[in-house]
Amino acid sequence: MTAAYEPYLQEILLDEQQLQRRVAELGRQITADYQQVDKLLLICILKGGVMFLTDLMRHIDVPHEIDFLAVSAYGHGVRDSTGNVRIVMDLTEQVEGKHLLIVEDIIDTGHTLKFVMNMLRARNPASVKLCTMLDKPSRREIEIGVDYAGFEIENKFVFGYGLDLDGRFRNLPFIGVVKPGVVLNE
Ligand code: IMP
Ligand code: MG
Repeated sequence: MTAAYEPYLQEILLDEQQLQRRVAELGRQITADYQQVDKLLLICILKGGVMFLTDLMRHIDVPHEIDFLAVSAYGHGVRDSTGNVRIVMDLTEQVEGKHLLIVEDIIDTGHTLKFVMNMLRARNPASVKLCTMLDKPSRREIEIGVDYAGFEIENKFVFGYGLDLDGRFRNLPFIGVVKPGVVLNE
């Protein structure tokens, strides 16, 4: 039996052990940094941030709430962010006076996060910080301050651990590089 993802996978970039080790480190760092803080709210950006959030929060030993925000880029094309972003599903919690930590799968051009951070800042939180599992700095079009990053990666299209390939394979416990020639419909 070959696994369902195998036709799409060129190579594993970050395996499960590497990811889990790094997530635990980030959790410990966040725990240390937020010791003096009450009202911590983790904001997961759907859908890609889901795997990272659920793993990361197990390593954050500070009382906190979680919430979810779904955003979408117009004229989508995951590798072709246009800079136009809209809210698909808003938060359910109030953010005023709370310390917000955004939990995202990957920062590419930076347009999505810029929009999200501006929108959240306008709601008068106590602070806004950003935690991303992956960072592709070479793709950046907008400068953005990343407070916590799991791994910096090259400009390759990756999937797994929350990141999708045409909506699928978010469930993989590792992050893989897409095989050349695989056509993305999104
Ligand atoms: P940005 O606005 O260009 O930073 O877009 C970031 C979003 O693009 C992420 O939240 C992902 O949904 C998507 N994205 C960027 N690079 C990849 C990738 O290599 N694989 C899967 N999704 C990606
Ligand atoms: Mg995303």
